[in-house]
Amino acid sequence: MLRLILLTALILSLSIDDIRCDPIGNNNDEQFNCTDGTSIEYIDLCNGKKDCNDGSDEFLYNDITKSYCGNQSCPNNYVKCNYGACIPITLLCNGVKDCADGSDEWNYNCTDHPEYPDEWKACESGNFIEANKFCDGKIDCLTAKGKEENIDNSDERPFQCLLKSCSPHKNFRCDYGGCIKKSKICNHFKDCIDGSDEKDCEYEDAKDTPRAQKEGCEIKANQNYNIRNQNQNSNVYTGAVDRVSVDTRISIRCKNNYVFSNGLSQQYRICTKNGWDHPLPKCIKYCDERILYISKSTKVECIHSHQTVDCKNIVPGTIARVSCADGYQMPDTISDSEQYAMTCTSEAKWDKHKINCDPVCGHQVSSSIPSASDAPWHVGVKTYINQTCGGTIVSPKSVITALHCVQDEDIMTLNETDVTVVIAGDLKNGNIHIFTVNVSEIIDGGDIDVALLKLSEILTLSMNTRPICFTNAEAITKSNRAFLHSWTKNENKFGDVFNKTELQVLPNADCSANLNQTYMCVRRKYKLHTNGTLCEGDSGAGIIVENDGVNYIIGILIHKPSRNAGCTNEPVVGTVFNQIPEKLYKSIQDDKESKYIYILK
Ligand SMILES: *[C@@H]1O[C@H](CO)[C@@H](O)[C@H](O)[C@H]1NC(C)=O
Ligand SMILES: *[C@@H]1O[C@H](CO)[C@@H](O)[C@H](O)[C@H]1NC(C)=O
Ligand SMILES: *[C@@H]1O[C@H](CO)[C@@H](O)[C@H](O)[C@H]1NC(C)=O
Ligand SMILES: *[C@@H]1O[C@H](CO)[C@@H](O)[C@H](O)[C@H]1NC(C)=O
Ligand SMILES: *[C@@H]1O[C@H](CO)[C@@H](O)[C@H](O)[C@H]1NC(C)=O
Ligand SMILES: *[C@@H]1O[C@H](CO)[C@@H](O)[C@H](O)[C@H]1NC(C)=O
Ligand SMILES: *[C@@H]1O[C@H](CO)[C@@H](O)[C@H](O)[C@H]1NC(C)=O
Ligand SMILES: *[C@@H]1O[C@H](CO)[C@@H](O)[C@H](O)[C@H]1NC(C)=O
Ligand SMILES: *[C@@H]1O[C@H](CO)[C@@H](O)[C@H](O)[C@H]1NC(C)=O
Repeated sequence: MLRLILLTALILSLSIDDIRCDPIGNNNDEQFNCTDGTSIEYIDLCNGKKDCNDGSDEFLYNDITKSYCGNQSCPNNYVKCNYGACIPITLLCNGVKDCADGSDEWNYNCTDHPEYPDEWKACESGNFIEANKFCDGKIDCLTAKGKEENIDNSDERPFQCLLKSCSPHKNFRCDYGGCIKKSKICNHFKDCIDGSDEKDCEYEDAKDTPRAQKEGCEIKANQNYNIRNQNQNSNVYTGAVDRVSVDTRISIRCKNNYVFSNGLSQQYRICTKNGWDHPLPKCIKYCDERILYISKSTKVECIHSHQTVDCKNIVPGTIARVSCADGYQMPDTISDSEQYAMTCTSEAKWDKHKINCDPVCGHQVSSSIPSASDAPWHVGVKTYINQTCGGTIVSPKSVITALHCVQDEDIMTLNETDVTVVIAGDLKNGNIHIFTVNVSEIIDGGDIDVALLKLSEILTLSMNTRPICFTNAEAITKSNRAFLHSWTKNENKFGDVFNKTELQVLPNADCSANLNQTYMCVRRKYKLHTNGTLCEGDSGAGIIVENDGVNYIIGILIHKPSRNAGCTNEPVVGTVFNQIPEKLYKSIQDDKESKYIYILK
């Protein structure tokens, strides 16, 4: 309905000039005297815009009922602001506050109930209440639809209510403007949210009547409750001391970020002649603990009053010390490297963002026998057709391999559900624990023989499982010495020892006359030794260069063109890591944990 009016208005208003009003009928040249001593043109009075420095040309802040604008009527295609100014209808609900009081953007005016646009009206929080509940003395608006979360008092705003009619015969106007039945005055019960209906009353109660029976039961102000009066099915305003009458049953919830110390989400109390049946519970404020557990890359310890406490139900004053989990290090952006401390403030908010750590890449723990810790980045890639390949962990979520390793005989990329990654991880009972991880997505290198496997879980890093590093440094990428790891395999079973093969990086022409710079050419270094060779199952494995104790991937072995040649001493082809398509590279970068800064609301 509203939208239709707006559309019509838009068409009409195109030809209308800026009409200005003259509510006092002073159309001469005289100036309007602002209350601060300055003056403005009369035509600028009550146009929605504050032209006097103190805004007195629009409304008097101390008494809205005496606004100059209140009595004016608006021309066609203009609408009245709550305090009386006129603005073009096209400015209604356009996202800009054109009325000095912002009433042209109030949800009340701008959001229609989908079924009952006239009977129901919107609160500022967006939920709807019956239109006649506006300015009825009680707060009915709630912040979230159907939830007794924080109360929003947009149905009982003084500016709005003071201007609403309130029959003086039947009704009583509360000091703030709300309107209640006359019979409710001095009934021992606050029917106006400000209690003005119980002000200056001469109660005639006998002295021996219990206080509760006289006055009801008290709810102290600002206890962080959301209370519902179940007898009246209405909210109890808890911004000021309030009372409910005897026999009232209330339900209590804590506001956002508060909880009852007993962990219940809702409690009930009954007001008896002698006061509350049980004392009212207390709501305690907690800091959001979930934020501490959002990354595998960190460990958190909570300290309160110099003692280690569980990082649960975190009260103000608690310090959460964030350190990096095994296999991770503080991101470069954190200067104080070892630890990062967050404090739960008295507002139950963390004073800092939660940080995440970055994986340590390319480090190996040397051991006498070649094992998983020798090449913690090396994995096997297995498909449903029992094809096996090598692969390299490039981030806790990604493995890089050759594209042909995840294609079928028809050179069609397999479905991700047909591919698994085999990892030699942490020691279990002294043995390397070999496990498989599912693949959730294959990012295909297209024309280039490379594929990125996105893992269905974030790997838990350790000295036996960690990513390789990569770099643009030419001293490393142009090295002529490299190496590669292979799984020892028996009948499709992955063993627990890796073989390391030293490689020589050759000119591309040694592999093929027209091999371009996307590819590289390598050959096993020690031709005559049996302890390392290049075999079919090695394709997909990383071509690695060590530099100063850190290992970098410079290529992915693709073992082409003699793909089905079994093992070979001949030069074979690899894809240059720095030539992988941008989308693969970006996806690896997106896995970087420290990129994610979780901002608290
Ligand atoms: C505004 O102030 C001027 C000078 O003080 C005075 O002459 C004039 O009458 C005032 N106008 C009104 C409408 O009060
Ligand atoms: C508005 O109209 C009412 C009733 O006619 C009158 O009492 C009041 O003084 C007027 N207000 C102004 C600011 O002119
Ligand atoms: C907005 O709504 C209020 C009632 O809540 C009404 O008094 C006012 O005139 C409306 N303003 C506009 C510009 O429609
Ligand atoms: C793959 O290997 C397993 C175990 O060796 C075997 O049971 C299965 O039939 C093989 N699948 C195919 C498609 O060859
Ligand atoms: C992979 O297979 C699953 C189950 O058969 C299917 O739901 C999914 O869409 C397939 N994905 C692709 C990329 O074809
Ligand atoms: C991996 O995928 C298989 C088959 O789709 C499924 O049965 C298994 O539960 C998955 N494993 C994990 C850890 O998700
Ligand atoms: C190299 O050749 C491949 C095809 O074999 C092609 O897809 C790629 O774009 C070429 N790269 C350059 C840098 O020319
Ligand atoms: C790995 O090396 C051992 C000797 O150290 C050798 O017996 C074995 O065949 C090699 N396996 C592969 C797959 O190269
Ligand atoms: C493989 O051979 C090289 C060269 O002789 C030797 O240095 C290395 O120790 C051997 N590696 C294994 C695992 O036997």
